[in-house]
Amino acid sequence: MTGGDRITGKTVVAGVVGRPVAHSLSPALHNAWLKAAGIDGVYVPFAPDAHGFERLVHGFRGGAIRGVNVTLPFKEEALRLADRVSDAARDAAAANVLLFEPDGRIVADNTDGFGLLKAFEVQAPQWSADRGPVTVVGAGGAARGAVAALIRAGAPKVFVVNRTLARAEAIAHALGAKVRPLPLPHAAGALRDSTAVVNATSAGLAAEGALDLPLDATPDGCVVMDMVYKPLETPVLAQARALGRPVVDGLEMLIRQAEPSFEAFFGRYPPADVDVRALALEALGL
Ligand code: ATR
Repeated sequence: MTGGDRITGKTVVAGVVGRPVAHSLSPALHNAWLKAAGIDGVYVPFAPDAHGFERLVHGFRGGAIRGVNVTLPFKEEALRLADRVSDAARDAAAANVLLFEPDGRIVADNTDGFGLLKAFEVQAPQWSADRGPVTVVGAGGAARGAVAALIRAGAPKVFVVNRTLARAEAIAHALGAKVRPLPLPHAAGALRDSTAVVNATSAGLAAEGALDLPLDATPDGCVVMDMVYKPLETPVLAQARALGRPVVDGLEMLIRQAEPSFEAFFGRYPPADVDVRALALEALGL
């Protein structure tokens, strides 16, 4: 009995830190994997107030718990608090995993880029990053992580299209000459040349305004991905589907970033025989 069913003297504790965190799908995924794998571990949510993240993390120092996933709005602060930083976290300028080593050190990693690429592998297996240019729409933290992962995977060129050009230029400055910043009104030119489009803006979220993206400029077979998973079928994905473009959804990315996180916390890859997508869909009420 594991995955929180029974706590013992040896239970390994991990969790997720975010604000808000109550609707995070991560506890359901990790605890289902723990149970299926028979691991004596538990995965719990933490929601510090806006200024409480640093105190919480220092409280975990020394291995009080094994590690945490970090979600909005703490990913950049997580990177700053770490003593050692993986290449993926450095390139993304954000961490979604913190590990608390027994010697007191904090190690930061970022598995979001892995999750993005794995989601493509699962839902659009015909696509590969090295086939041609890719467009990333948005220039916040999520976009920067996506751009870094796409370059690492071999994309020859990544157009970063953003409403505020200066933020796209900052990503180009940080990640090099393969990044081509463009303002949103110039999106069609980038989309025309792209093998894939990643929406990394928050515009798919219910509270934000709609994103006007000329997806009809994309060539046949161009894969369209949206990082937003609430709603699962975002306006961008609906438009892509109507045009007959293959799509990759944000839920697949969320699930796939969780897999290496689980391995970092609990020492083995999650068991393959748990249908965590079905669990996640149920948790989303779908
Ligand atoms: P995150 O760290 O999650 O990426 P963020 O830093 O707030 O979040 O970035 C949100 C991104 O969505 C930005 O690229 C933002 O564009 P600006 O840089 O111009 O603000 C983009 N965004 C949000 N709503 C948008 C909308 N309605 N139209 C176009 N872009 C939008």
